[in-house]
Amino acid sequence: MALQNGLNGKVMVTGGAGYIGSHAVLALLDAGYEVVVVDNLVTGFDWAVDPRATLVTAAIEDEAVVRATIRDHQVRAIMHFAGSVVVPESVSDPLKYYRNNTAATRSLLESAVVEGVPHFIFSSTAATYGTPVKVPVQENDPTVPINPYGMSKLMTEAMLRDVAAAHPINYCALRYFNVAGADPQGRSGQSTVGATHLIKIAVEAATGKRAAVSVFGTDFDTPDGTGVRDYIHVSDLAAAHVSALELLVAEPSKSHTLNAGYNRGFSVNEVLDAVDRVTNMTIERRYEGRRAGDPAALVADNAAILAALPWRPERDDLETIVKDALAWERKLAERG
Ligand code: UFG
Repeated sequence: MALQNGLNGKVMVTGGAGYIGSHAVLALLDAGYEVVVVDNLVTGFDWAVDPRATLVTAAIEDEAVVRATIRDHQVRAIMHFAGSVVVPESVSDPLKYYRNNTAATRSLLESAVVEGVPHFIFSSTAATYGTPVKVPVQENDPTVPINPYGMSKLMTEAMLRDVAAAHPINYCALRYFNVAGADPQGRSGQSTVGATHLIKIAVEAATGKRAAVSVFGTDFDTPDGTGVRDYIHVSDLAAAHVSALELLVAEPSKSHTLNAGYNRGFSVNEVLDAVDRVTNMTIERRYEGRRAGDPAALVADNAAILAALPWRPERDDLETIVKDALAWERKLAERG
C-alpha cells in the first residue's frame, strides 16, 4: 500500500484507459501510488493502461463491481475521468450525456460514500462557463453552459458540493481548458478515433492522415479573428491531479473547484503556425464559417490553482505541446 504518500490505500482511476485518465495513471504510478483502473473500454484502450496498474473492465455505474473493487483494493481516493466528451454529440444526444456523465457519476458517488472513500477528484470542464463573461475567466464567474456536455458536468459539480456537505468526503473539481499533447516519454497520447480537437487534427494532417485543417471562423472578436483557447499539456494536467490529491489528503475538511489552464491563449492560426514550425511543413488551412457554439475566447485565470497547490506547469510552451502530440501521432501511424 502507498503508505509513503499518506493515503494508506490505492487510487481508483475511472476512465484510466482514456486519453487524460491514462496520463493520470502514469503520474500516480510515477509518484509511488498504487492504482486500480475502472474502465468499460468503450472509448478507451486496454493497452493504454500502464501494466503496473490493475485494470477492472466495468462500467462505473455497476455498483456491485465498483464497491467490490473499492473494498478489494482498499481504495482511499477516486479520480473520475470516465464520461462522454464530444460537445456536438451532446447537443444531438443529450440523454447520453446526462446518463454517462451525470447519472453514472451519481452511482459512482454513492459507491464511494457507502464504502467510505474519503477523497474524490473530478474532471470538470471550462464548458461549465458557457460563453465566459470575461477573459480570463475565474472560478466564481457565472456558470451558464451552452451545451448539454457542460451542463452534465456542472450538475455533477453540484452533486459533489452537496455530497461533501453531507458525508465525510472531500473533492477537487478541476475545470480543464483545452487539453493537448502527450506523455513526453511516449507512453501514452491521444488515440481517439475521429477526434475533433484542433491540435490532434493538425498533427493528423502533419502525418498524412488528413489533407488539410479547417479553420472554423475568421470573424471572431480576437486579434486575428480566429478562436482563442488556453491549451494545457496533458502531463501538466495529470500532475495537477496528483497535487490536488495531496491537498485533499492534507486538508480533509476542504473541497476545491479550480481552473486548470495556463492563463494565456493562442488563436487557431497561432496554433497552426506552431505546427508548421515544429513539422517544417506548410499544412493547408481551409478557412470556413464558425462552428456552432464556439465562444471567441476561453482562457483560464489560474491564480486559484497556483495558490492552492504547489503544482507548477512544466510544459507550458505551445511548441512543446505540439512536439509531444506529433511524436505520439507518428507512433500511432507506425502502428497502423
Ligand atoms: N478548431 C478549428 N478547426 C478544427 C478544430 C477546431 O478551427 O478542425 C477551432 C475551434 O473552432 C476552436 C479551437 O479550434 O476555436 C479549439 O477547438 P477544439 O475543438 O480543439 O476545442 P474546444 O475549445 O471546442 O473544446 C474544448 C474541449 C471541450 C470543452 C470545451 C469548452 O475539448 O471538452 O473546450 O469550451 F467542452
